[in-house]
This record gives sequence, structure tokens and C-alpha cells, in this order.
Amino acid sequence: MPILDDAQAMYNADTKGMLKALWELPEQCARAWELGMAADVSPMDNLRQVVVTGLGGSAIGGDLLRVYATQRLDVPVVVNRDYVLPKFVGPYTLVFAVSYSGNTEETLSAYVQAREKGARIVVLTTGGKLGELAGNDGVPVITVPGGIAPRSATGYLFIPTLAVLYRMGLLPDLSHEVAECTSLLQSMREKLKPEVPRDSNQAKMLAANFHNRIPVIWGSSGTTEVVAQRWKGQINENAKAPAYWNVFPELNHNELVGFEFPGELLRRLYVVILRDPQDHPRVQKRFAITREIMEGEVAGVVEIMARGSGTLARMYSLVYIGDYASVYLAMLYGVDPGPVRVIDTLKARLAEE
Ligand code: F6R
Repeated sequence: MPILDDAQAMYNADTKGMLKALWELPEQCARAWELGMAADVSPMDNLRQVVVTGLGGSAIGGDLLRVYATQRLDVPVVVNRDYVLPKFVGPYTLVFAVSYSGNTEETLSAYVQAREKGARIVVLTTGGKLGELAGNDGVPVITVPGGIAPRSATGYLFIPTLAVLYRMGLLPDLSHEVAECTSLLQSMREKLKPEVPRDSNQAKMLAANFHNRIPVIWGSSGTTEVVAQRWKGQINENAKAPAYWNVFPELNHNELVGFEFPGELLRRLYVVILRDPQDHPRVQKRFAITREIMEGEVAGVVEIMARGSGTLARMYSLVYIGDYASVYLAMLYGVDPGPVRVIDTLKARLAEE
């Protein structure tokens, strides 16, 4: 029986429980809001910037926040994926230091710098060295449940930041948005889960289209840009396969020109356009024209529309489809979606030096 038609075989092949973590994502989002609401934070005067510092699965939550907050916060959100913080960080900066393991060296270095620069810090982690340092320094720590992969913890590593910003008086109460997101994902999982056959399971169909091809994921500036980046990362880490992402309208000014050569390779690309009902009307026009221009050049183009009414639900509805599709793609390649040996090896070798 082909693997995508055999739910039990997929659960067996998934030694780290990526499918289980996906199933539990809706409840994770609800819990994440509660964790943020319980954090020990107080309002801050003269806030000038918010910085989220983290890497990989712990950084994407920062981008979700950046995109979410861009039309809602009076100050910019900057995501820092490095050892070094930007020069502007100082006493008027709120820094979220995020590391699921608490042991990522770039994040530890940025945390130490944030302390030296006198920034206000909130840590999100399961523990590790970061939890220990913050505990000793009296820095508020939002301790999130462990036991899953960092990239499976996007609810825990993002939604508490919304609650913290609400509690600081910088964002409105978003509990209704979180509730909508949770119930939307609960209904979506019934259609995306392994037991649902391929011809009615959108994520399985996507995985079949990605198989032996290179996925190219396009979002648009606004809610879907970060989702496109998320899909790429999930395909890389879960399916151990390459994928690329870009953003409208920028890609209309360069990337689209590059769909002429080499024809043989272009026919191996499968393009996904992630859409949001609130995309700028001119960007919506661009989708249609772009599709027409390149459709014959690549293996296929599909458009996927976000669901839900709140921004959070719309973003997560697309994240959810991509997360499931990446795990199904792992199954098609016969690879265990959970382990990320390359990252583990890199971290271990760096620790030796
Ligand atoms: C693994 C994953 C990675 C890690 C990254 C940083 O699931 O997604 O991208 O998130 O290596 O590690 P943490 O999150 O522990 O700081």
C-alpha cells in the first residue's frame, strides 16, 4: 500500500511524534496564550523597538510577530538571527530571547549582550542554559513545555509574545483571535490528518505534487510572507529536501524574469502561491498575471487561500497545511520527519571547539 494511504505506517515511521505534535497544535496555541498571560511582566515607558532574538524554529515566531504587529504596533519588530544584536538595542528596547532548547549559542550570546545593553528582556524557553541564566539574573522566563521539536512549538514560541505585549498595554486583548485560531485548526486537522485519504486531503495532494520536484513558495508582504518562509523551513527540516520562497510584489521585479532557462530544470519546480483575502488589491491582480506568465514553464502552480477571519487564524491556517504537507513529503521520500541530524552534528562539532 502506498505510504500516504497507510496512516499506521506513517505513525510508525515518525519516531519523534511530529504528527502527534501537529494534531496538538490547536491546543498548544490556546495554552501558549495562557502562558504569556501568566508571565511576570510590567508596562514599559518609552518603548522604541521590539527585538526577537533566536534561530530556526525559535526565530520563525519572531517573524510571525513582526508580520502580525506591523500594522498594529507603534514601534518596529526586528528579528535577530545572530550572535550580535543591532546597535540600536538599549534600555528602550524590549528583547524576547527565544530558544526552545535554551542552549543555542547564538541566542545565548545575544542574551548576554541584551543584558549588557540594559534592554528589557523576556525569555521563552523550555530551560537549558538560557533558562538558568535568566533565572539567576531575575529576568522573566516563560517556560514552555518540552518534549517536541522546536519547529513543532511555533504556538509556544510566538503566541506568548502577543500576550506579553497586551499585558504591557501595547496590543489589544487578542484572546478572541487565539480562540478562533484554535477552533479553526481543530476543524482543519480533521481534514489534514493521516487517516484522510489522499484525494480529499489537501496536504497529501501537495506532498504528491512536491515529490521529486523543487517546491517554490510565494507569499505576499503582509500575512503570508512569513508563512512562505515557514513552508520552506518545514520542507527542509521535515522532508530533508530543498525549497525556496519569495514575496509579492518584490518577486515581480526580479525572480519572475528568471523563469525561462534552463527549461529542463524549470519543469521540476512546483509553485505554491499563498493567498490571503486581505492581500492588497494590486497584489491580487499580480497573482493572476504572474500565474499566466509562468504556468507553462513549471511543473505546476497552485494557489492556496487562507481561512478564518482574524489575522492569527489566517496565518496559522496556511502554516498548518504546509506543516502537514512537509511531513507527508518526508513519508514519500522514506525519511523520518523528526530527526535533524545535520543540525545536531553542527551543534555538536561547534561545541567541541
Ligand atoms: C529543530 C529546529 C531548529 C532549531 C534551531 C535553534 O526542530 O527547528 O531550527 O529551532 O536549531 O534551536 P533552539 O530552538 O533550541 O534554540
